[in-house]
Amino acid sequence: MKKIRIAVMVSGGGTNLQALLDAQQQGILRSGEIVLVVSDRPEAYALERAKKAGVAALEILKREFSPENRQAEFEKRLEAALQESGAQMIVLAGFLSILSPDFTRRWDHRILNIHPSLIPSFCGAGFYGLKVHEAALARGVKLTGATVHFVNEIPDGGEIIAQRAVEVLSGDTPEKLQRRVMEQAEWILLPQATEEVCRRMLANT
Ligand code: GRF
Repeated sequence: MKKIRIAVMVSGGGTNLQALLDAQQQGILRSGEIVLVVSDRPEAYALERAKKAGVAALEILKREFSPENRQAEFEKRLEAALQESGAQMIVLAGFLSILSPDFTRRWDHRILNIHPSLIPSFCGAGFYGLKVHEAALARGVKLTGATVHFVNEIPDGGEIIAQRAVEVLSGDTPEKLQRRVMEQAEWILLPQATEEVCRRMLANT
């Protein structure tokens, strides 16, 4: 069966990558297959997860490139790796570097991102990782959750694909809330949304 070839970009622990790998194993993600994992951080545990799953894993470190055109060089190297892997879609799973408007335009409607809040709340520049949950707790929202959206030139500004709500409980710390949002929203939503987009892409080929 033909599948969409997926590259997953990571920066950290890779629990969202793991959710995708497990979903592929369980047949939840069946219209796409992960063919490459790219990290912009050398020590990202996500790379270990990729290796354990037998998926090609690659580090592209910005510091390798000259400061004056670091972003362009980074993306040139990234594009080469993507082309070589035959990737047709990119999933940002805990990926913290920015991608230029030029890059996101070239991959229009083919880059997905998972954000740990119900966009448009607590998103955009500076809202990542624990900061998102600190802001939700500071605001006193009773519901938060996760959003999968297409990536465009606006941070967390692309078309929303799917969302899943999670209750905020009294006594929640940012760490406890982050864990619940990951377990009850991110790790379920990202595989589901990725499968849905892959299926649509296959239907249109
Ligand atoms: C998590 O906070 C997740 O919400 C966000 O990136 C962080 C790390 O995710 N997308 P992961 O464990 O590296 O997938």
